[in-house]
Order: sequence, then C-alpha cells, then structure tokens
Amino acid sequence: MNYINTMEDLFDMLDRYTEGVDWDAFYTKRDKPAPFLKYHNLPDKCVVDFINKHNIRNACEFGCGEGRNAIYLAKNNVDTEAYDLSEIAIENAKRKARESKAEKVVFKAENIFAIDFRDKKFGLVIDSGIFHHLAPHRRLQYRDIVSSILAEKGYFILLCFAAGKDGADEVDDYEFYRSRQTGVAFTEERLKEFWGETFDAVDLREGENIVNDQMWESEYLYICVFQKG
Ligand SMILES: C[S@@+](CC[C@H](N)C(=O)[O-])C[C@H]1O[C@@H](n2cnc3c(N)ncnc32)[C@H](O)[C@@H]1O
Repeated sequence: MNYINTMEDLFDMLDRYTEGVDWDAFYTKRDKPAPFLKYHNLPDKCVVDFINKHNIRNACEFGCGEGRNAIYLAKNNVDTEAYDLSEIAIENAKRKARESKAEKVVFKAENIFAIDFRDKKFGLVIDSGIFHHLAPHRRLQYRDIVSSILAEKGYFILLCFAAGKDGADEVDDYEFYRSRQTGVAFTEERLKEFWGETFDAVDLREGENIVNDQMWESEYLYICVFQKG
C-alpha cells in the first residue's frame, strides 16, 4: 500500500506521476532530432563567451548529458564536477573526457536531488536543458540547491526552452500536472519572476541559430546569466 506520511513521500509520489523522458533510452537509441545530440562535441556559445570574459576557478554542471560543456570547461582550466541522471550519458561523457585528455572534470551519474554537496562552493553553475524538464514541485528545491552551492557573486548560466518557439509546450504549472508534460517553455518575464527571487539577472536573451566548429546556439532556447548577490 502507498501512503503519504512525509513531505518526501509527497515529492516521490509527484515525481512518479510526472516521470518524463527515459534518458537512458534516449541516449541509447539516439533517434530524436535534439541538437545537443547532433552537436554532442560542441559547447554552448554562451558558455564559450562567458569563459572568454571571466576568470572562473571551479564549476558544477547539472544535467550535463554527454559532457560537452563540462569537457570544454575542464580543457579551459576550470575544475569541474558534472552530474547527470543517465548512466549511459555519463559513461559516454567519461569516455569523451579520456579521449580528449580533459583531466579537470569529474562526471557522476546521480540525481541532482540526492547529491550531498556539504560545504562545496562553485564560481559557476551551468544548467543547459535540465530546468525545463523539472516538474514544478521540484523547482523551488532546485533553486535552493543552485543558490547554496554558488559562491558569493558566483554565476548561474541557464539555457531553457523559449516561449514562442516550436521547441516545447507552453503550459502553466496547473496544466503541467493535468497534461503530464515533459518539457516546458519559459518567457523572459517568468524566468525573471522565478530566478529573480534569488539572483540578479546579468544577461537574458533569446538564442539564435549559430553553429561553427567551436560552439553552437539554437533559437529554441532562452539564454540567461544570473549572479548571486
Ligand atoms: C535536454 S538534456 C541536456 C543534456 C546536456 N546538458 C546537453 O545539453 O548536452 C537534459 C539532461 O538532464 C538530465 N536530468 C534530468 N533530470 C535530472 C535529475 N533529476 N538529475 C540529474 N540529471 C537529470 C537528463 O538525463 C538529460 O541528460
């Protein structure tokens, strides 16, 4: 019998109710037209631009997938920890890091809500595509985790589906649970409202379609740089 006795029971029940993409199957089959699979060796343009402007010592990436941003950071002398739920993605990321001799990155297959960070602090946290897959009941906890592991004045780079483009569904949080969405698009207003509670908005903009042999960016994404006050 299933009963809800604690807040954790409630969250577990909602997690099961909203279980979305099977990420191990996604990375095994590779049959979805997702640009981050196609350009799996290229970092996000906003990450490259950011690293060219800032001197960052250490970073953490959530939902790192096959490690394209984390490997780029490591090769640019940033000590990096990178986490993803999918063991397949993490195996691929570790292999790619070995092949490209990126030594300053540690990849771990873990659910971000189960990681024990103790007193760790990072100068930069990156989320390229995980926030828009989180169910609304997990978002507040996620914002607290990002904030708690960022050093004072640390930066948070967030890339998520942009409202008004074809990439994802535009639903409010009630509709999310009614229709069991797997990815949600955000407006600039909504991103400022949610993340602005905790962070200062440094740079928020719509993405453009850009690809070269160093980096890529997509018009389906909204790109944000926030800073902890
Ligand atoms: C859209 S993919 C983006 C992957 C990668 N950031 C990239 O752009 O190449 C979202 C990733 O978030 C991961 N993910 C989703 N929920 C997670 C969770 N609770 N903890 C850790 N990773 C998670 C998925 O396994 C998936 O690899």
